[in-house]
Amino acid sequence: MTKKASIGVTGLAVMGRNLARNLARHGHTVALHNRSGERTRELVERFGSEGEFVPAYSAQEFVDALERPRQIVIMVKAGAPTDAVIEEFAPLLERGDVIVDAGNAHFADTRRREAALRERGLHFVGTGVSGGEEGALHGPSIMPGGSAESYASLGPLLEDIAAKVDGTPCCAHIGPDGAGHFVKMVHNGIEYADMQLIAESFDLLRGALGLEPAQIADVFRTWNTGRLDSYLIEITAEVLAHTDAATGKPFVDVVADAAEQKGTGRWTVQIGLDLGIPISGIAEATFARSLSGHTGLRAATRGLAGPERTPLTGAAAERFADDVEQALYASKVVAYAQGFNQIQAGSAEYDWNIDLGAVASLWRGGCIIRAKFLDDIRAAYEAEPALPTLLTSGDFRKAVEDAQDAWRSVVSTAVRLGIPTPGFSTALAYYDALRADRLPAALVQGQRDYFGAHTYRRVDREGVFHTEWATEARAERPA
Ligand code: 6PG
Repeated sequence: MTKKASIGVTGLAVMGRNLARNLARHGHTVALHNRSGERTRELVERFGSEGEFVPAYSAQEFVDALERPRQIVIMVKAGAPTDAVIEEFAPLLERGDVIVDAGNAHFADTRRREAALRERGLHFVGTGVSGGEEGALHGPSIMPGGSAESYASLGPLLEDIAAKVDGTPCCAHIGPDGAGHFVKMVHNGIEYADMQLIAESFDLLRGALGLEPAQIADVFRTWNTGRLDSYLIEITAEVLAHTDAATGKPFVDVVADAAEQKGTGRWTVQIGLDLGIPISGIAEATFARSLSGHTGLRAATRGLAGPERTPLTGAAAERFADDVEQALYASKVVAYAQGFNQIQAGSAEYDWNIDLGAVASLWRGGCIIRAKFLDDIRAAYEAEPALPTLLTSGDFRKAVEDAQDAWRSVVSTAVRLGIPTPGFSTALAYYDALRADRLPAALVQGQRDYFGAHTYRRVDREGVFHTEWATEARAERPA
């Protein structure tokens, strides 16, 4: 009698295959299924020695191979393909069984699917999985949503295969229904912001110091030994040090400078707009990718007049790399502060009760934004769960305040040399807006009331008012 599997994976492209292998390597019996049986056969042939696999070549055979409560992990493309696979298996399952969507699904789709399957007595768990193909095999960061009941059986398996930091799994139950996919979405948004800030740092060091990619790689290696220690800084040094075999040129110079995006950063911005959370760092990073792709527009505007990138000299050049490190760190704090505020807002909007410290903790390892920095964020939210923003938390506050001069100097140097730094600049503008006693939004309210009678509030008394702009007296009246 073949042993029943404790979990099954359907969709055996590289991510699904690696998750299945990771589960088997941790001693779990894993049922396997794929639309074309060839991938199933190939996985068992190549990796069957890694653990217990139960290959299945039909949906019914796959379901029959699983112990109760059955747990099926779907690893197929987001959208319609995921709905199709759900419909293929849901009729074969029984009350209490669990369907897990480990793809990059939109959290609103996950909420819809979870509600619909709950009606049918099934648990639906949308879970973010971060760390790419290597992470899926060696230990990803995992962000499961769904019911607490489903986590009781599913959680231990996911925690088993997740990355570990200080012995703690980079996996925890995020919250009900779409909470897990929402947090993964924000992870990707923060990833965009982080990558953009790093790219701007590269552009600044090249444009203002005239450094070559290999030299800049050394700067990033040095930064990776300090407070910027992170996977993205580490791989940036590798990418910049790489020489293109075909041309002998720096690899980064032969890559087309049009950044692409699968869409999770875009979703983050759209939801940030809906929730009214100014995630300007993520938005500018997303727009920067879009702008880079408008090759026709860029060809038409390349000749526009502007300053030359004349390298700095003397003391300014001496301190510039260190100034950029400070500006990068401060801008990174702003971008992460905005991202965590968006998670806070989503949690309140959808009543998820998300523990921000736990999110930071499971982002310490396995995921693309993994960094020492996240342990500091974990500590900040554990010390003060209702923290209004990371910017007012002890060490972060001091580090950003201390970075002021360098940060402002870097942004003004970028402006003077015509080096575009939307990430650095928007972070500084956000910081200054938060610090301001008064914002010019007062004038915006006046304008809105003038042309649209949209009313305004006053600083000196309660109530909502409108001014009769069309009359001579321009009398103000309560609206
Ligand atoms: C991860 C990554 C991953 C992301 C791809 C492509 O957490 O492992 O964020 O989920 O989708 O890296 O992302 P973009 O095409 O949007 O850059």
